[in-house]
Amino acid sequence: MTTTETRTTPRPTPRGRPTFAVGTRRHLDADEIAATGLRDRWYPILPSHMVEAGAMVPVRRLEVDWVLFRDAHGVVHMLEDRCPHRSAPLSVGQHLGDRIACAYHGVQVDGGGTVVSVPGMPGCALEGRRATASLEVVEAADTIFAYIPLTADSVPTPFVLPDRLSDPEVSWFPNFAEWAGPWRFYMDNVLDPMHGAFLHRNSHSMFGGDTSARFRIRETDRGFFFEKTDQCGVNFDWVEFVRGSMDYVDLEIPYGPAAGPGGVFGIVGMSTPIDCSTSAIFHWRTRRVSGWEREAWRFLYRTRLEEKHWEVLEQDRLVLEVLANDADREEHLYQHDLGVSRIRRIYRADAVAQAAALAAANGAGLAT
Ligand code: FES
Ligand SMILES: [Fe+2]
Repeated sequence: MTTTETRTTPRPTPRGRPTFAVGTRRHLDADEIAATGLRDRWYPILPSHMVEAGAMVPVRRLEVDWVLFRDAHGVVHMLEDRCPHRSAPLSVGQHLGDRIACAYHGVQVDGGGTVVSVPGMPGCALEGRRATASLEVVEAADTIFAYIPLTADSVPTPFVLPDRLSDPEVSWFPNFAEWAGPWRFYMDNVLDPMHGAFLHRNSHSMFGGDTSARFRIRETDRGFFFEKTDQCGVNFDWVEFVRGSMDYVDLEIPYGPAAGPGGVFGIVGMSTPIDCSTSAIFHWRTRRVSGWEREAWRFLYRTRLEEKHWEVLEQDRLVLEVLANDADREEHLYQHDLGVSRIRRIYRADAVAQAAALAAANGAGLAT
């Protein structure tokens, strides 16, 4: 797969039924898709522990309201948080094990989005209809992931975890935060390793090395590396952008002996849009350790390192949250921003393709 290939595969819809992006009930143009998030891909939604047994947890992702709940077997379901009857939020209803009963008139919707009972009018035509959007969900790496489709006809791609998270020799800790900044600013930030030597220069891990550099893009069959040409293994010197089952970034920061065994500190990062100006940020902090080294790392992380990592993340959050929402509209980029330019081109191309696919499905011509 090339880095600019889109995975949008909408099918024709029946005549008379408009095709909107799932959960939106309106047409989206390329700008709106770019702002609220690209569809037809897997996204991390919430840490697993935030959806407890018996709970109904409302979340907003890609500017759509969803509700998460576990059935009697502990399996997580993710429905649009909107009753198919008259649109009351399901999340304020009643958890009935394998279904939710709407608070307003008692309509019951199961985890697959099918109306299983209309208690006020048994036998009515709504019963048996799959009338609520229900997403494909996978729980892995202590996180709930969902495939957010472009249209109801989108076919989910296979779910595959990033390499580091599926490697039994790698020990990781998940981290979750919500930032008051657009999701694309997160991607820009991680495709910009040079900020490590400035924004994080007083941190425990990014104080070393040169404060000037040259960068290059190195293509891979799953994305690209953006890396310094004259320094490696000293600071935040490279990042890989990966387009797999989901889009993510992978990077390593050198660690000194005081940080215990395990060598470099690996980070997997992802950003899920909440809406056009807020993001859910997911990181997994990793080290390649086994046996006693694994225990030592896990102890050290919990007692000392996690707090230091939060401090670094806060430095990123503070900058990204004070950027104007249109900060990327007028800039003066230089060589260090090749990675930023690249990621923006990729996402713009995807947004245009998805808007065109939606428009074509509606017979409305191409939308850019
Ligand atoms: S709005 Fe949900 S049952 Fe009427
Ligand atoms: Fe940073």
